[in-house]
Amino acid sequence: MILVTGGTGFIGSHACVELINAGFDVVVVDNLVNSHEKSLDRVQQITGKRPLFFNVDVCDEKALDDVFSQCSIDSVIHFAGLKAVGESVQKPLEYFSNNLDASMVLCKVMRKHNVKNLVFSSSATVYSGDNTMPLTEQSKTGNCTNPYGWTKYMGEQIFKALCVADSDLSIVLLRYFNPVGAHESGLIGEDPQGIPNNLMPYVSQVAIGRRDHLTVFGDDYDTPDGTGVRDYIHVVDLAQAHVLAVRYAQNHKGCEVFNIGTGKGSSVLDIVHAYEKACGKKIPYVIGPRRAGDLATVYADTKKANEILGFKAKYDLERMCADSWRWQSMNPKGFE
Ligand code: NAD
Ligand code: UFG
Repeated sequence: MILVTGGTGFIGSHACVELINAGFDVVVVDNLVNSHEKSLDRVQQITGKRPLFFNVDVCDEKALDDVFSQCSIDSVIHFAGLKAVGESVQKPLEYFSNNLDASMVLCKVMRKHNVKNLVFSSSATVYSGDNTMPLTEQSKTGNCTNPYGWTKYMGEQIFKALCVADSDLSIVLLRYFNPVGAHESGLIGEDPQGIPNNLMPYVSQVAIGRRDHLTVFGDDYDTPDGTGVRDYIHVVDLAQAHVLAVRYAQNHKGCEVFNIGTGKGSSVLDIVHAYEKACGKKIPYVIGPRRAGDLATVYADTKKANEILGFKAKYDLERMCADSWRWQSMNPKGFE
């Protein structure tokens, strides 16, 4: 049985679908701080199976221990965490304590129950801003520009140290680039609370009429159209990478890190135009100042994940926007 922490969230719910489709039994632990349990009803609608669910805070050692006692867990995928970059600057203590405690408590309970395999949601945000593109797993890390980024960086250090101390442990660190899109059914997708921080959910809320325009954060970068370039990856591709990663973890030992992206960069205006095509409407936008901490261009070298995990992203930008729009138009207010 696979334990998925944060399994009711955006990426976690998509991972549940792919894990169930691949034949795994799934148990989800989530405290619903940024998600709805309804996402698991939708997982059931898609796959025919509802993951076992525990409304538990991963930082609560006793409650997590009970889950491990009740279920025969052999591997864990650890998505649970707070992820809003701006909020982490306002509430550093909440971010350090939630994200790091969750990882450490989880590892303690895994040790107690002799569970050795873990896949962790890391992020391209761990890379330092002065690298050349594309980013390989060897590119420089650190110099994070916000507490959220540091929680991922420090989380990686914790997992690496644990693997040094216990040679039976198997931990896969996945550094995601920019996950977007939704399941093709339109039944699960990203449901941000409040004003979206990220580009694609913001654009989709403009498309549905919840916001009147997008502000493009700077058009004077050294990029083909002057707007920021990122490596957007379809969340279903990303979810499938977790199936490969968990199988890899079950058959290897030690700590391995992989970039999970497409290797292809798209600009803010590329996204706007692809979304306009998907929804058949104009996306009004204004050009604003650059956002503090943003880089001009970020994209992945995906060779390692391809060669070792056999992972290759299948879906293009057009499909990411089409699936995002289907989710948004079928669920204008998200899961509410
Ligand atoms: P999300 O907020 O939709 O999912 C995270 C889930 O964790 C939520 O369901 C939330 O309720 C739960 N959670 C948070 N703290 C918890 C705790 N202490 N105990 C139990 N549950 C808790 O976010 P997501 O986009 O699905 O991201 C999943 C993971 O991937 C996160 O760790 C995030 O930092 C990481 N990540 C996300 C992105 C991105 O752009 N979405 C990029 C890189 C890395
Ligand atoms: N952007 C806008 N307007 C908006 C929102 C974003 O122009 O309203 C631009 C940004 O300036 C950037 C691009 O769109 O050029 C993408 O921005 P996102 O906020 O969607 O994504 P980031 O690459 O800044 O960061 C995201 C996550 C981080 C994660 C990182 C991994 O928010 O948590 O990807 O690469 F670490």
